[in-house]
Amino acid sequence: MPDTVKVCLIAARGRNHVIGREGDLPWRLKDDLAFFKKTTLGCPIVMGRKTWESLPFRPLKGRENIVLTRDWTYAAPGARVYSSFAAAINTARAIAQRQGADKVFVIGGATIYDAAMSYADRIYMTEVDAAPEGDVRFPEVRPADWATTTLEAHEAGDGNDHAFTIVQMDRTPALT
Ligand SMILES: NC(=O)c1ccc[n+]([C@@H]2O[C@H](COP(=O)([O-])OP(=O)(O)OC[C@H]3O[C@@H](n4cnc5c(N)ncnc54)[C@H](OP(=O)(O)O)[C@@H]3O)[C@@H](O)[C@H]2O)c1
Repeated sequence: MPDTVKVCLIAARGRNHVIGREGDLPWRLKDDLAFFKKTTLGCPIVMGRKTWESLPFRPLKGRENIVLTRDWTYAAPGARVYSSFAAAINTARAIAQRQGADKVFVIGGATIYDAAMSYADRIYMTEVDAAPEGDVRFPEVRPADWATTTLEAHEAGDGNDHAFTIVQMDRTPALT
């Protein structure tokens, strides 16, 4: 059983940091969806109510789905529902430990990335080579706080609306 569970954010953002438009993604990136699936499978995932409602199939299989809403009457069949980010992330960590997973994933949207930023050990970021119109953006990431490694690069075409690069950003230890 892993003794530490990493809190990871996973997101795709445009050059303008846009991540969504009118409750949906502003692009179709087949190979990024495949990366998302392979990376998150077997790990708990935490998301906001609007992202949950945007999923074409709910819950996402092979992962414990945790949904945040302030509506105590909200029902999300197949998911656990929480009204506090701290409670949701603590539950996700406990489930990961129990299931032998070494990560939990925060999968969006913007309000939940915001809440998760101070908890994050790692960000898997898909940098999309586009600047689409949109109504939600990824929060500011200070480059000095993160060590970045490139994982994959993809050309546009064959199910990918745009070229994109997937990077892994690990939080650098604070200097004391
Ligand atoms: N590109 C990407 O990587 C990516 C990833 C995920 C989503 N998206 C896109 O992002 C958009 C959705 O993002 P969003 O920011 O509008 O919505 P969201 O974060 O998915 O959901 C927001 C909702 O979550 C609940 N919530 C937020 N903070 C909370 C807290 N601290 N405690 C309890 N509940 C809380 C509230 O639900 P109630 O209103 O029910 O109280 C709030 O309205 C969509 O366009 C989606 O396609 C993009």
